[in-house]
Amino acid sequence: MPNRIHVAFVAGLLATAAFGIAQTTPQIKEVPVKRTSPASGKQMYANYCAACHGVDGRGNGPAAVALKDHPTDLTQLAKENGRKFPDLHVSAVLQFGSEHPAHGSKDMPVWGPTLRSLSQGGPVSDMEVHQRIANLTDYLREIQQK
Ligand code: HEC
Repeated sequence: MPNRIHVAFVAGLLATAAFGIAQTTPQIKEVPVKRTSPASGKQMYANYCAACHGVDGRGNGPAAVALKDHPTDLTQLAKENGRKFPDLHVSAVLQFGSEHPAHGSKDMPVWGPTLRSLSQGGPVSDMEVHQRIANLTDYLREIQQK
């Protein structure tokens, strides 16, 4: 069965602004989504989320400067929700996308279909997508600032 790899917004910067030689406009480069272990929230986070949200989750990944909306500081999710980590909200955002995009722009990718494209389809795929989203959500719970 062909395993079609979708292109998603896992981003890298095309710009060379780091050396201050040229002021290039930063752009988001779309790259194919690498297959990761569904068992590791940490590995999925590093591959799929860190470009925008930063390795430490604080919203300052290398691609953040190219986005209209600033990526959310993911270490503050519990703090901003009365110290309760909003797991249902987080898994819904991952599956279906963010519910409050700024007008006209939606920089946070919808992950459900992309994660599904990593597996073969069928009921096994449903379970795997569920596992991936649960493990990503657990990982975010672990990085909450107290
Ligand atoms: C292309 C950049 C980009 C990537 C990649 C990305 N995000 Fe986001 N994310 C954003 C932006 C921008 C926002 C803030 C605007 C919004 O909520 O739509 C956001 C918001 C969020 C929110 C908060 C939404 C809310 O309603 O409170 C969560 C949770 C989140 N991202 C998790 C993730 C996870 C987990 C991954 C990896 C699987 C990921 N993001 C990958 C850009 C990105």
